[in-house]
Amino acid sequence: MTVEYILERLSEIVGPDWVASKHELIERYLADETAKGVRPKAASDVVVVKPSNAQEISQILKLATDAGVPVFPRGGGTGLCGGAIPTRSGIVLSLERMDKIVGVDKDNLMVVAEAGVTLGQLEEAVEASGLFFPPHPGDEGAQLGGMIACNAGGSRAVKYGIMRNYVKGLEVVVPTGEILQLGGKLLKDNSGYDLMHLIIGSEGTLAVITQAMLRLYPAFASTATLIIPFESRHAAVDVVPKMLQMGIIPLAVEYVEKDLVKLSAQALGLNWPCEEGSAQLLITLAGENEEIVYDQCERIAELAGNSGAAEAIIAERREEQGNILKVRSEIYTALKPKTFDIMDASVPPAAMGHFMDAIDEIASRFGTKIPLYGHAADGNLHAHIMDNVPPKDADAIKLAIYQEGVRLGGKITAEHGVGKIRNELLPLCLSPKAIELMRAIKGAFDPKGILNPDCALS
Ligand code: LAC
Ligand code: ZN
Repeated sequence: MTVEYILERLSEIVGPDWVASKHELIERYLADETAKGVRPKAASDVVVVKPSNAQEISQILKLATDAGVPVFPRGGGTGLCGGAIPTRSGIVLSLERMDKIVGVDKDNLMVVAEAGVTLGQLEEAVEASGLFFPPHPGDEGAQLGGMIACNAGGSRAVKYGIMRNYVKGLEVVVPTGEILQLGGKLLKDNSGYDLMHLIIGSEGTLAVITQAMLRLYPAFASTATLIIPFESRHAAVDVVPKMLQMGIIPLAVEYVEKDLVKLSAQALGLNWPCEEGSAQLLITLAGENEEIVYDQCERIAELAGNSGAAEAIIAERREEQGNILKVRSEIYTALKPKTFDIMDASVPPAAMGHFMDAIDEIASRFGTKIPLYGHAADGNLHAHIMDNVPPKDADAIKLAIYQEGVRLGGKITAEHGVGKIRNELLPLCLSPKAIELMRAIKGAFDPKGILNPDCALS
């Protein structure tokens, strides 16, 4: 089938206004937020198509499977591992027009929304109903479909978990064109193999997500954010399990280094409110009333004080807390221009301190510095390999860090995903049989291998 034929058919399916192939119109669909040292090269002969419903997507995928043309599903383009980058000639399928909130179901504490709804839009709609959607993977321009396909994590995973824990139902289109309804507004569903959970985290390689049912929580009457400064980061991360054991489960427990948050604050024109301590914990607490939250703040501050922390800063005003979260969320953006690659290993949370020491040791062996920050209670650490490291050292450093993470019981990616930059590394943490089973699953969903090729598996 010729390119002309594909273009014509796509125009028939979605209407000519929603198909683009001119360079200036498709340029922004060729990149995502992946760091420059590892960003995959995008193909230039790509068609961008913008369907408005699942039926159109079904026809597009059928056409692509028949013609053997690669399809690259795309959400907000906020990913960090090249997952949305079209690495071959083919079709970029943007979900941007599918941006309707179908409804907030207050009685079931669920929201139903299309895949192209952004995190920011979802938060607004849910908050207007007096409910709360906790996950915060950083960039509020992320779209729901992408957040589900990538099983996004982010800062607020400690109390209620990652994206997977919120998804209760999905509408998806498989590469052969069938539309499936998986799960539902259900808290219990044991009807056969769980295809829905297989699709969550499959990075757009098994199906295109078109709509989701997500679990919500009641809005908290009171929240507070603590910044606790430490001189020793071991002391900082060692406080985390003790706090959890005391029965305090915050929304977020983040580890940051002061020079990194200051850099991010400066880029945003904000002021970072804590000057003490080189290592800082950011803790967001939420509760039914002010007394409960205040009591938790006091108990954490006392625990941290006994572990060598200087005086904690408590932010209670919504705007102040919002700014702290913003500064934390934008560390990557602030470091990105000088970043070769951002790593995303996960280790058992109690191994965070050892992992950080091992990374320091690797950095000094290669005569460099590796900035560190991450999700302390989740055992998820972001190590930045900066662009002043020679490329061959960068690969050796990354391998050493991956091996150390795996040795500690971890995995090579916690929340960013395999994408198109870590496929070759999967054998570091998965057995050949596990990879073989994944390939067989991919083949069952996508017999022609058209959906997001080069992603998640090699
Ligand atoms: C963060 C992103 C990079 O934690 O995952 O800021
Ligand atoms: Zn992160």
